[in-house]
Amino acid sequence: MNDKFRSVPVKSSEITPYSQYISRREFLKAAGILSGSALLAACAPKVAATVMPGDEAPPAEVKFDELGDPSNTFEDITNYNNYYEFTTNKEAVAPLSEDFNANPWTVEVYGLVRQPKTYGIEDLLSKFTQEERIYRLRCVEAWSMVIPWSGFTLSSILNEVAPTSKAKYVRFESVYRPEELPGQSSPFYPWPYQEGLRLDEAMNDLTILATGLYGKPMPNQNGAPIRLVVPWKYGFKSIKAVTKIELVEEQPSTLWNSVGSTEYGFYSNVNPERPHPRWSQASERRIGELKRRPTLMFNGYADQVAGMYAGMDLIENY
Ligand code: MTE
Repeated sequence: MNDKFRSVPVKSSEITPYSQYISRREFLKAAGILSGSALLAACAPKVAATVMPGDEAPPAEVKFDELGDPSNTFEDITNYNNYYEFTTNKEAVAPLSEDFNANPWTVEVYGLVRQPKTYGIEDLLSKFTQEERIYRLRCVEAWSMVIPWSGFTLSSILNEVAPTSKAKYVRFESVYRPEELPGQSSPFYPWPYQEGLRLDEAMNDLTILATGLYGKPMPNQNGAPIRLVVPWKYGFKSIKAVTKIELVEEQPSTLWNSVGSTEYGFYSNVNPERPHPRWSQASERRIGELKRRPTLMFNGYADQVAGMYAGMDLIENY
């Protein structure tokens, strides 16, 4: 494990409690401040930069990724979300997911393995050492954030179940509760949400199963209680609320690829040179910043991952 991706976990006392944040947000809304700031940054989380005179909320601790970029605030990270099981409205995911029940929870790991296992979330939290990883998350929509995740490497769980030599890919499946998740009534998407990785990508040390952020348990809107994080790929590969992990021989089908294969490839490595058919990927909007910044190949993680794609045409294999 590369030490530059490690850092000390944040104390939970340093984080604004969610209840306090919500009441602050309600106050700002009532004061008409949220709608005003929306004019400045059409898509940015509306509370992030608003500081009130006499505001008692403790400042969120800023952390830095290995490139020296500051982490986004807890407020940014938990109020601007993509989670189509709830809604396509990024700012409505937080309130709509408030009552989602992520406990009890099991993750079934099966398929081409010698020791299939079903883990309770409590087993995963106690069995595998939780470490902090401060990663950039680059959405295919060209916005990005820096997020201090906590979790453990996917390889640690895969090593336990022992993939057989036939296993070439890993397929992930999200929670499926159509009676509870309004988005799963939409006929436009083949639910449940599915994703996949090549086995070597899944075993890469950067690939984690995240169980929290900013030292707190994973908020519902970010994929409680456990979600994948693959920082060199577009954000949609980082599937939330994982319930199944299956080792398979063939490249698995994924939700976004089956909805639009020319737009969302299986690999979906961040690549500034391969435009999305409807927009450029050369630059991105870091949430909280006004000026766009250039997008980095593999989202800045080339040193750790480029070797896995040696000799591959990355424009063709998007
Ligand atoms: N996982 C599930 N199950 N459903 C989703 O809609 N959206 C993806 C990904 N994982 C999504 C998902 C997309 S498009 C992105 S950019 C990231 O989650 C966003 O993660 P965040 O809301 O924690 O920033």
